[in-house]
Amino acid sequence: MIHIDAERCINCMQCVKVCPFQVLEGGGGKPECIRENLCIQCLHCAAACPREAVSLDDLNGTFQGDFPSFSDNFSDQIEHHLLTRRSYRSFKSDVVDKNIIAHALQTSAWAPSAKNDHPTEWIVVSGKPFIQEIMDHILSYVDETGISPEIASLYKAGHNIVTGTANTLILAAAKTTAINPSVDTALALYNAELVLQANGLGTCWAGYLTRMCNQIPSLRQLINLPEDCQIYNALMVGYPDQEHYLHIPNRKKQPAIHWIETATR
Ligand SMILES: Cc1cc2nc3c(=O)[nH]c(=O)nc-3n(C[C@H](O)[C@H](O)[C@H](O)COP(=O)(O)O)c2cc1C
Repeated sequence: MIHIDAERCINCMQCVKVCPFQVLEGGGGKPECIRENLCIQCLHCAAACPREAVSLDDLNGTFQGDFPSFSDNFSDQIEHHLLTRRSYRSFKSDVVDKNIIAHALQTSAWAPSAKNDHPTEWIVVSGKPFIQEIMDHILSYVDETGISPEIASLYKAGHNIVTGTANTLILAAAKTTAINPSVDTALALYNAELVLQANGLGTCWAGYLTRMCNQIPSLRQLINLPEDCQIYNALMVGYPDQEHYLHIPNRKKQPAIHWIETATR
């Protein structure tokens, strides 16, 4: 429930202006919450309030946690980070610090999400024996069905395209009835990936693993995936066992940009 503290509010109506669903109205000179059923709890109203007068249930509108500050050349730094992000498939055997994973996953709460639904539920698998068990289910399935035979042939040749040599896997699950689970989980996981790589970890998106987790009943059971959920995206994680990539490769495919422009006065 959106609450506006009348003593703090200066009736500037910023909260009314930024609300994407017109939950708030200010017709009577004061902001009022009149369409609460449409509220997606994004707290844009609170973010725009100059007096911190808006809250949601017991949530103060202003984030109280640690908040890293901008450095002077932030735009260069973020671009640097985006351009140096790479897929890592080969990892040291060192166990990944659980706190780094938890911290990275917490940042996913700030990713965009359709109607602020945030449907992602994380399954974090750590430890080689369990990951090998997952792999064994996949190899048996590939063997029985003939689906994705390259998984088995590459594996026999010493190359695991499903989990790499990761000792941690992050699975992004969501209910299939969520509003936009495939996009929301991808955005959430990408937030986490950027934070993980910023902390010296290597990551690689795991599309084969994602598909197999949903497809193989015994694997669904192994990871306790409820019937109404799917894995939508997954990530291999570990400390890279190679030197960081030395070069930023050129991209073979450049973004195709189709501008549609109208004259502005
Ligand atoms: C949705 C998705 C699924 C992927 N699945 C796999 C996979 O199953 N195994 C793998 O080794 N790499 C996988 N990748 C990694 C891509 O191969 C990699 O991102 C691409 O080759 C570009 O390399 P870069 O990430 O280093 O820029 C996947 C990437 C995405 C985005």
